[in-house]
Amino acid sequence: MLIRRPPDIRYSEVTPKALYLRRREFIQTAAAATIGAAALAAWGGTAAHAQGSGRKLPNVRKSPFSTTEKLNSFDDVTGYNNFYEFGTEKDDPARNAHRLATSKWTVRVDGLVKTPKTYDLDEFIKPHALEERIYRLRCVEAWSMVVPWIGVPLADVIKRLEPQPGAKFVEFTTLLDMRQMPGQRVPVIEWPYVEGLRMDEAMHPLAILAVGLYGEVLPNQNGAPIRLVVPWKYGFKSIKSIVRIRFTDAQPRTAWAVSNPREYGFYSNVNPTVDHPRWSQATERRLGEFRRRKTEMFNGYGGQVAQLYAGMDLRRNY
Ligand code: MTE
Repeated sequence: MLIRRPPDIRYSEVTPKALYLRRREFIQTAAAATIGAAALAAWGGTAAHAQGSGRKLPNVRKSPFSTTEKLNSFDDVTGYNNFYEFGTEKDDPARNAHRLATSKWTVRVDGLVKTPKTYDLDEFIKPHALEERIYRLRCVEAWSMVVPWIGVPLADVIKRLEPQPGAKFVEFTTLLDMRQMPGQRVPVIEWPYVEGLRMDEAMHPLAILAVGLYGEVLPNQNGAPIRLVVPWKYGFKSIKSIVRIRFTDAQPRTAWAVSNPREYGFYSNVNPTVDHPRWSQATERRLGEFRRRKTEMFNGYGGQVAQLYAGMDLRRNY
């Protein structure tokens, strides 16, 4: 028998409040620490479709490190995002990230470094020439896209900052601010989002700090005003909206590995031979394509990066 309910009746109106609140708690806990969890909330953003920043970046030189593969569209790149600080659905960041104020951004540099200091973003980036780097991005959820990033080599920035000889790792932290980032009210992972690289990974010429894409200033949903891009690792290593860079002698406690250590490790190299505990990593769907592609070791960058992991068991160091 089909029981009809008025279409606009709210769950909270048909369920005793205590039970309803407990159910919400349950959904939040169950969904915690899972990339790809269902949407937990919407915050009533207004943008109907993805928008860019609309601010062109001048004097960008092309990089020989770019792939010649077909680019994903601007709409794909700016409308299908993971940025849990703004919601867990793919279109939540494009709808909600306008809340983030990026104009007076600072980056704190501390830990094992010559001069701990808080930099204005301009002061931080200006000494370096901007490059366009067209990279494949392979998400741990087994989709991928090709993105024309604009950024600066992370190695150049690190050399300028002069880490101390004892610095073995670099840790990156995203802004923590529930008012601007309403997704942080939901404990999907431990906030703030933290990522990290071993120093030799961070110094690799393929790793960049991105400040733009598709010729313009980075749209908020893609991690404005400054994010990491590490193309041989799963996308979750490419941390967005960075406010702190810390040099350390101990392996950083990265947000996903802390929240769900069985599923996410520190290294997170793209590896088609090591499956995620709940799905295969052997193939991927390129956004806009129907047929699945074979995933390549190190996302196709093995020729450049494999030597960083010589002698390591990549099944254990996932
Ligand atoms: N950084 C922060 N701060 N918060 C996030 O939720 N998601 C990560 C990564 N960086 C994420 C983040 C994941 S899972 C992916 S796949 C990429 O951002 C997606 O980047 P894009 O939306 O620009 O494609």
